[in-house]
Amino acid sequence: MKSTRVTSIVILLAVIGFIIPSCHKGKKVTNVSSAGSSKSHNRGQNCMNCHKSGGEGAEGGWFQAAGTVYDSLQNNTVSSGNVYFYTGPNGKGTVKYTLQVDALGNFYTTNAMDFGTGLYPAIQGQTLTKHMVSSITTGQCNSCHGVTTGKIWVK
Ligand code: HEC
Ligand code: HEC
Repeated sequence: MKSTRVTSIVILLAVIGFIIPSCHKGKKVTNVSSAGSSKSHNRGQNCMNCHKSGGEGAEGGWFQAAGTVYDSLQNNTVSSGNVYFYTGPNGKGTVKYTLQVDALGNFYTTNAMDFGTGLYPAIQGQTLTKHMVSSITTGQCNSCHGVTTGKIWVK
């Protein structure tokens, strides 16, 4: 009798222990890159392979846009800069969103983003701003850059 009760308690605790972390894993956190911060990682990888609902990096945030910016030699990343999302090509239209590049060259946001029919990203470095000629409807920059097209880089 006593051992049955102990067993029940053990099972109950195991169930609670299972439920609490799984709720936590589904929780949506806010995480936005900021100048000088170095809490990101995995430079060059597609962040959203993990930073999505149910993904391995879900607890670090479900990113709406994220990527990595390199210097002109493309071996090292930059340590500052800005990412702009324009409504028109080559700096035309208005800037709908701005992200700061962190100390590791990464930028990311969990804030809601509406790409509509497409936004035009641009990267501002110390002396150069580069515009993507075509528009995007996904913020997974590193799904193309460094894979099917060159790395994102500035000076
Ligand atoms: C292979 C999976 C994976 C990839 C790819 C990945 N991450 Fe993560 N990331 C994680 C995990 C796991 C955590 C830890 C989450 C936790 O336990 O809170 C994390 C945490 C983070 C955090 C939170 C750190 C903190 O203390 O708040 C940031 C910021 C972050 N990642 C940025 C990025 C960026 C930017 C990229 C792409 C350049 C990226 N991650 C790519 C798995 C990944
Ligand atoms: C679907 C694939 C794809 C995605 C996603 C993508 N890009 Fe691009 N990007 C390209 C291609 C292809 C080019 C070259 C042609 C062009 O500019 O349209 C390019 C060019 C660029 C350039 C100009 C490069 C140069 O050397 O002049 C910048 C800057 C850029 N992308 C930034 C970004 C950022 C920031 C993101 C994420 C917010 C992003 N891109 C997402 C495919 C992509």
